[in-house]
Amino acid sequence: MKKIAVITSGGDSPGMNAAVRGVVRTALARGAEVFGFHHGYRGIISEEIFPMNTNSVGGIISQGGTMLRTARCPEFREKAGRDQAIEVLRENDIDGLIVIGGDGSLTGARALHEEYSFPIIGVPGSIDNDIAGTDFSIGFDTAVNTALGAIDKIRDTAYSHERVFVVEVMGRANGFIALEVALSGGAEAVLIPEVPFSLLEICENLRQARVRGKRSSVIVVAEGAARAGDIKDFVQKNTGFEARESVLGHIQRGGSPTSFDRVLALRLGSHAANRLLSGFTGEMVGVDGSRLCHHPLSYVLSTERTVDPDKLLLLEMMAQ
Ligand code: ADP
Ligand code: F6P
Repeated sequence: MKKIAVITSGGDSPGMNAAVRGVVRTALARGAEVFGFHHGYRGIISEEIFPMNTNSVGGIISQGGTMLRTARCPEFREKAGRDQAIEVLRENDIDGLIVIGGDGSLTGARALHEEYSFPIIGVPGSIDNDIAGTDFSIGFDTAVNTALGAIDKIRDTAYSHERVFVVEVMGRANGFIALEVALSGGAEAVLIPEVPFSLLEICENLRQARVRGKRSSVIVVAEGAARAGDIKDFVQKNTGFEARESVLGHIQRGGSPTSFDRVLALRLGSHAANRLLSGFTGEMVGVDGSRLCHHPLSYVLSTERTVDPDKLLLLEMMAQ
């Protein structure tokens, strides 16, 4: 294998640049030529290809976002779009592709692998951390720390005004960001899509907390579980406590990646290049504890990643 290409696709996540750096410098060290396509699958279809050398990835390790840019590409969901993409890859003599992205992007990667036997390695890049086969996806740690910084600030004003704050975090259909940040931010309650919750019970807990002397509270809600505004209205109506909502939104996707995400991304990018150049395909690289690992994309995409119920119990106990 002589010529490989790399894309970032789907929602960007902090650390994707470090992953690109890991891919490019590892592949160059092994004597391969490396190309980037801008704008993910859309850029393959529209042939936005450019050669990459060691300088292409200089000075990007500390930057959030992705220097390769990213996009969502509805055409690629159709066979006709994938036919176009494979034609471009073959016309440019690309021998293998590394896809850095979330579960949608990895589903696209599996299609290229299964339908055309095209050599592919996936790298999990998503703040949502909802991808099986890895303990962490690139960007989760940074997103959690960004949300935590915001919640710490919100707690200051919640305390001063003796209010309840309902803070909505991202995570699509999953509660990984919400649960992690609720624990580290000392939240009184967390609402996640994976676990049923009773708002009446939460209101009762808030009332009891007031009796114990706690005069302000933070409730973290995952965007996939409920809207912060609706929860704020319900809490205010049922407790009589003054409440406010705050939707953190896309700030969770930006910013300089944490050291954890940079090292994770460098290792995963490098591992992906090594696997591809060693002839492996149809896999996603990941970490199992502190060790690098790899699993078939078919396994990764058919396995559900579940939240740790012990973390939820711990949060409930800490909120007493
Ligand atoms: P993420 O990768 O962050 O989960 P998306 O779900 O939007 O983001 O997926 C990114 C891109 O991956 C889509 O725009 C599309 O081009 C491709 N993709 C997603 N799902 C599929 C699918 N089922 N088949 C083929 N390509 C897909
Ligand atoms: O998958 C990452 C993510 O940030 C989700 O947490 C969120 O639901 C979604 O992407 C937002 O997507 P967009 O940037 O298209 O609004």
